[in-house]
Amino acid sequence: MLLAIETSCDDTCAAVLDGPRALSNVISSQAAAHAGFGGVVPEVAARRHLELVEPVVEAALAEAGASLDDVEAVAVTAGPGLIGALLVGLSAAKAIAAARRLPLIPVDHLQGHVAANFLEPEPLDPPFLCLIASGGHTLLAAVRDREGYETLGQTLDDAAGEALDKSARLLGLGYPGGPAIQREAEGGDPEAFEMPVAMARDPGLDFSFSGLKTALAYRCRELGPEGVAARRADLAASFQAAVVAQLVAKLRRALRRGGWEAVALGGGVAANGPLRDAVARLCEEHGVRLKLVPPALCTDNAAMIGSAARFAPRIPYPDYLDYDAFASGEGPGDGRVVGARPARAH
Ligand code: KG4
Ligand code: ZN
Repeated sequence: MLLAIETSCDDTCAAVLDGPRALSNVISSQAAAHAGFGGVVPEVAARRHLELVEPVVEAALAEAGASLDDVEAVAVTAGPGLIGALLVGLSAAKAIAAARRLPLIPVDHLQGHVAANFLEPEPLDPPFLCLIASGGHTLLAAVRDREGYETLGQTLDDAAGEALDKSARLLGLGYPGGPAIQREAEGGDPEAFEMPVAMARDPGLDFSFSGLKTALAYRCRELGPEGVAARRADLAASFQAAVVAQLVAKLRRALRRGGWEAVALGGGVAANGPLRDAVARLCEEHGVRLKLVPPALCTDNAAMIGSAARFAPRIPYPDYLDYDAFASGEGPGDGRVVGARPARAH
């Protein structure tokens, strides 16, 4: 069995896996601790991880009916993410592994989002096209094997989730912003306000969300606080529709280039209902298979990290004791972390 730990942002997560099956997947969300700030406070996140990581690991083992005696390797997110938060999970994983002379498997967080699709039930086999949209990243990944992916396009500025979180704050909605906007949008008209669908004429596969966020800020300024309050649902619906439209447009463009028979989604924004519906329609149009993991496997969790770890190199004890977390980029580049490969020119 594998024990997996994920602490890259504001969720303290641990899971136990038996092959492609997650026997447990415990997530302790810190959302309440950060809500008052309208976003994640890195120091607060690190401190909360420190308090939560032990009980969360214990809960994951208990739920799986397992003990540390059953664990043959420990998987952990090494990056990218908040460095202080990552270090808590990495240190805990190292300590658990070292105490029992077990190997450690460092995992790239984004590869984790891809690998959520390899989990039971109905695991998806590569090749497939994977749209990853989260609070920190937005990219189109060409997944040709289980060890990594190639980035076909990515955001040039904000991530989709980041734009949703910041816009939710503008609209006076809670944190995290994605689910709050989705809820608010249910009572609104997505065509009430015209929002720019950025990059629509750009022939590439990159994304951009900062203009959209600015457009919303202008609408809010024009409307004033009372106007915003009166039109909140329409603003949320229009903004969400524009985010979805851009994500779907790029996915469509990638599909038109041909060669794909399956599409998957990953990252917190992939939990978004209207996005899931729009991608389902797109896949039907193109006659490709769509794999949608449950929302709980889209947002950060440790089962996806364990899933990626099954196809990643194991570092034997004690070689990992000086292994470092990385905040951004593609890891230390020594081949010991699965994840993104250099983008190919397109
Ligand atoms: O993957 P994730 O849990 O953490 C990162 O790696 O960033 O993604 C978090 C992001 C947040 O921006 C949150 O607002 C967004 O995912 N999100 C959603 C939904 N649930 C979470 N966005 C839109 N609709 C949702 N239902
Ligand atoms: Zn994530």
